[in-house]
Amino acid sequence: MQNHAERLDGLGTTIFTEMTALAERTGSINLGQGFPDSDGPRPVVDAAVAALQSGANQYAPLPGVPALREAVLRHQRERYGLNPEDVLITFGATEAIASALLGLCNPGDAAILIEPYYDSYGACIAFAGAYKRVVTLRPPDFRLDPEELRAAAERSGGRARVLMWNSPHNPTGRVFTREEMEAVARVCVDYDLICVSDEVYEHLVFDGEHVPIAALPGMAERTLTISSLGKSFSFTGWKIGWCSGPARLVGSVRSVKQFLTFAGGTPLQHAAAAALALPDVHLQRLRAELRANRDTLADAIAAAGWRPLLPAGTYFINADVGAEATRFCAELPARCGVVAIPTSVFYDDKAAGATLVRFAFCKRPEVIAEAAGRLARMTDGA
Ligand SMILES: Cc1ncc(COP(=O)(O)O)c(C=O)c1O
Repeated sequence: MQNHAERLDGLGTTIFTEMTALAERTGSINLGQGFPDSDGPRPVVDAAVAALQSGANQYAPLPGVPALREAVLRHQRERYGLNPEDVLITFGATEAIASALLGLCNPGDAAILIEPYYDSYGACIAFAGAYKRVVTLRPPDFRLDPEELRAAAERSGGRARVLMWNSPHNPTGRVFTREEMEAVARVCVDYDLICVSDEVYEHLVFDGEHVPIAALPGMAERTLTISSLGKSFSFTGWKIGWCSGPARLVGSVRSVKQFLTFAGGTPLQHAAAAALALPDVHLQRLRAELRANRDTLADAIAAAGWRPLLPAGTYFINADVGAEATRFCAELPARCGVVAIPTSVFYDDKAAGATLVRFAFCKRPEVIAEAAGRLARMTDGA
């Protein structure tokens, strides 16, 4: 029997490592992996330096630095009208997701996933000994079919424990509608599911607005809301994340987290508290820049003869290139000096995303302009 490492080898992050190496080898612009190429707001860096110099360098308390815990609670209250009972600071959203799935899923339980999905979800469900029930979003709209979702819960025959939710959604860029979210809430209530909601792109919405699923009727008491500093403030390397919600759910995450990392990044937790207290103009500026990048890349994708699938949020855009995307992505650097990722890596049903390519647009405008120029000049089709 394969162990976890053997089963996971070749999945998920390997493609990002390979594509990043390919970008370096070919001198290409790397729009494969989603990290910004410039720092976040200066006052946040200054707060980190101040914390480092003022002796905030030992273990943080397990629940997190009080200033950041308070800042997260205030953020949830003032932006969304939520009043979570508890909050826990984690090593990025990644650790919150892992601890939640390990803490909440028993061996043999089912966890409902919406695909394409962020790769850590599947891996952590496997670690927990649980299994996936996958609902598929299909291009070009990536709309959630409420009947498919209900059928997935029904098929689990009472073993469904968790529904993993992610809006704004990586890799499609969808910001789900109120109607779709109400359908999710109804299924969670009807099947008594815990909703683990990954909202790391909450502030990167260009069309519409972010609604935390915990704000829907019946959901606050069954939702664990996860977010982090990385995407909203362009500090992905700091890995400061958090989760909030009912005390019993946050407690489950804490029980696992204490044996994974216990605590981490004390000075950066102080800086994250400063980030959450910044005036909104920082987020507005980031959104405006990302929206312009999105539009530049969408135009270039269309000019190259492919179909851009315009995202309402996140910093990813998909193109339907009308050809097998894995081979397309392997050849793209040599053809035009741009690296992208085949979206099928996020699908279990590989056929559903077979012709989709994901580009990250969280780079400086001049880098996006250069990448757009290279793509638009490609004339030899797919
Ligand atoms: C959907 C989603 N969730 C979680 C993460 C990881 O967040 P963090 O860097 O805070 O661990 C990412 C990063 O790409 C993501 O896209």
